[in-house]
This record gives sequence, structure tokens and C-alpha cells, in this order.
Amino acid sequence: MQLGASDYLNKPFEEGELEATLRVVLETRELEQERSRLLETLEEGTRTVAWHGEAMRGVRAVIEQIAVTDVTVLISGESGVGKELVAREIHRRSPRANRPFVKVNCAALPEDLLESELFGYERGAFTGAVSRKPGKFEIADTGTMFLDEIGEMSPPLQAKLLQVLQDATFSRLGGNREIRVDVRVLCATNRTLEQMVAEGTFREDLYYRLNVVDVRIPPLRERRDEVSGFVEMFLHRYSIKYGKPLRKPSPALVRAMERYAFPGNVRELENLIKRVVVLESEDSVVAELLGGDRMHGAADRLQIVIDELAATAGLLPLKEVARRASLEAERATIDRILQRTQWNRKAAARLLGVSYKTLLQKIRDCGLEEA
Ligand SMILES: Nc1ncnc2c1ncn2[C@@H]1O[C@H](COP(=O)(O)OP(=O)(O)OP(=O)(O)O)[C@@H](O)[C@H]1O
Ligand SMILES: [Mg+2]
Repeated sequence: MQLGASDYLNKPFEEGELEATLRVVLETRELEQERSRLLETLEEGTRTVAWHGEAMRGVRAVIEQIAVTDVTVLISGESGVGKELVAREIHRRSPRANRPFVKVNCAALPEDLLESELFGYERGAFTGAVSRKPGKFEIADTGTMFLDEIGEMSPPLQAKLLQVLQDATFSRLGGNREIRVDVRVLCATNRTLEQMVAEGTFREDLYYRLNVVDVRIPPLRERRDEVSGFVEMFLHRYSIKYGKPLRKPSPALVRAMERYAFPGNVRELENLIKRVVVLESEDSVVAELLGGDRMHGAADRLQIVIDELAATAGLLPLKEVARRASLEAERATIDRILQRTQWNRKAAARLLGVSYKTLLQKIRDCGLEEA
């Protein structure tokens, strides 16, 4: 049994016993096949929608080219654009697909905890280290390590990471034995690392090590051709998940979605659709997308964002919460001033204290349109 037999029979056995046993084995096997077929279909569903748009053509090509190699990849893009999904896809298509995929979020832990998480420690390395613990780099051996939010890593840890990338060796905290690992590293950031390098907060040598290949995922507002596909896919997915009747999105919903700027990118779209499915109504979402931010202005829209952030509490670092809230506040303010100046952009720029050029860029980024 330990070597993989599904069942056994004690001799002597009846014909019926044999039949019953075989039936169970065959049914199990059929179920397993059915299950993997379903999983494949599910994945297929995600994949056809995932990145089918024009703006993602470059990203798709790079994923294909690099998946079979071992190069380090830096995936960048705003929050919610799908950086983690891309990392998983690269792993899935690599020869390491059946090996571990280990994710570490560099923003989630304070420096010393992150260090012991990555490199592990020996018993007695510090107070509280009652037994040895292997680091994530060891766990990821022969597989892929995904370092999320790499821009949040402190300079001392950056140095240690650089060493691992160069020599493929490190030692656990409080230990001196060199541990050799074979790990492919992928990382993601929503900050501009070039700028951090220029400011001296991110090591230049590490930056070049990580950035062997760079995959930039455009924000959803630059991929509007994908929006309707996403709407359908998420409607389908969450209707099944929450046991609700399947239905098509109304043209009004799709239109409203296609015009909206999505500061929270695909994740925001996904959450809105979840709401449509759970409430079994599009009304509040459509109203929010169209009227909500336009007619009622900053306060309501901001409140909705805060509610949504509260609903996902703990999933986002506080910094990210602040970034999104500030983005929303900016958008709502610009919208209001533009209405007040009747879309006189020069006057609005003056009132807002930004250059004309900056305002035009922001109008575009926020997806604001003259009513
Ligand atoms: N192309 C896509 N197809 C299907 N789902 C997607 C796609 N892109 C993003 N998503 C979904 O959007 C959500 C956010 O994606 P993901 O976590 O990969 O983003 P991220 O860029 O890592 O965001 P963050 O910077 O906030 O961590 C996830 O629920 C993911 O499944
Ligand atoms: Mg992520």
C-alpha cells in the first residue's frame, strides 16, 4: 500500500468482493481524471481572458520566451494588475512547474523576521529560537521563489539577497554551515525601483541582478479592451462559487466598466463583480461607476473605497491602503474642480496648483471625461 497500491484483498475472496473493490478503484480514478479535466478547463478559462488584450501582447511574448529559462525576472506594475498571477504563470510553464513555488511578501514582515523567514535559523540563534527552522530559500530549493514587494526590503537584507543570487549559497542565522540551493527568483514591485536606485534606497547592483528581464504590466485603464472579457469571466466564476444563477452582464454594466478608470485595477474589477453576484443586482455598482463619482463627488466615492478596503482588511499593507485612498481623493477633487470650471483645464490646473501638462496626464490616468 505504501508503494502506491489502491487496495488489497484477503484470500480467499468472493467474486462480489473483487467486483466491489475494482469498482471503487475505477470510480476513484475516473473522478480524479474528471477533476483534473475540470481544473484544466478552469485554468483555460482564466488563461484565455488573462492577457488577451493588445497592451499585454508584449508581456505574453516575454512570458513565453523566459518561462523555460532560469533567468531572474522583475515584474512591475500598479497594485492589482496581476503581478502575482504572471509570476505563477512563469513558474507553471517552467521546467520547475512540479517543484515548489514559494512566495514571500517583503512588506509583510519587519526586517529581522523577514531575514529569518528567508534564510532560516539555528537553534539558539536568538532568544526564542528554541529549535532550528529552515528558511524559505531552502524550502524553495529546485523550485521558484517569488519575492513580492521587493522594493520594501531593507538595505542590509538586499546585500544578503545579492549574495545568494551570486553564489547560490547562504547560511542560516546563527549558523556557519554554507547551504547551497538551486532556486529561480522572480520578484514583483509596485514601486519604481529605478527611482529608488537614484535616491539610494535600493542597491544598484541588486537591481541589475534582479532586472535581467523586466516585465511591466500596464494598468487596467490602458487595457480597456480586456474589461468586458474580465466582466464575463468573473461573473461566471463567482456565480458558480456562490451558487447564483448564471447570467450575462447588461450592456449598461459593461459600458460603465469600460469607462471607469480602475485605480485598483483588476482586483477592483473583480471585487465589483463579486458584489454584483452576491447582491444579485448590478444597480448599485452601475450607479457607483457612473453617477457615484460624478454626481455625488468626493465624499461618497471615498467612503465606498474605504468600505471596500475595510472589507479586505488585513489583505493589504497599510501603505497600500493609504495610496489607494489618496488616489481616490485626488480623482474626486480633480473631477469636482473640472465641473466647477466647466472643464476649463487651464483654470482647473491653476486652482489645483499643478501644471497644465500634469493635469492632462491626471485626467487621462483617472479616466475622467467631460460629461
Ligand atoms: N489577467 C487576469 N486574469 C484573471 N484574474 C486576474 C488577472 N489579473 C489579475 N487578476 C486577479 O486580480 C487580483 C489581483 O491580482 P494579483 O494579486 O496578481 O495582483 P498584484 O499585481 O500582485 O497586486 P498587488 O500589487 O496588490 O499585490 C487577483 O485576484 C487576480 O486573480
Ligand atoms: Mg501581489
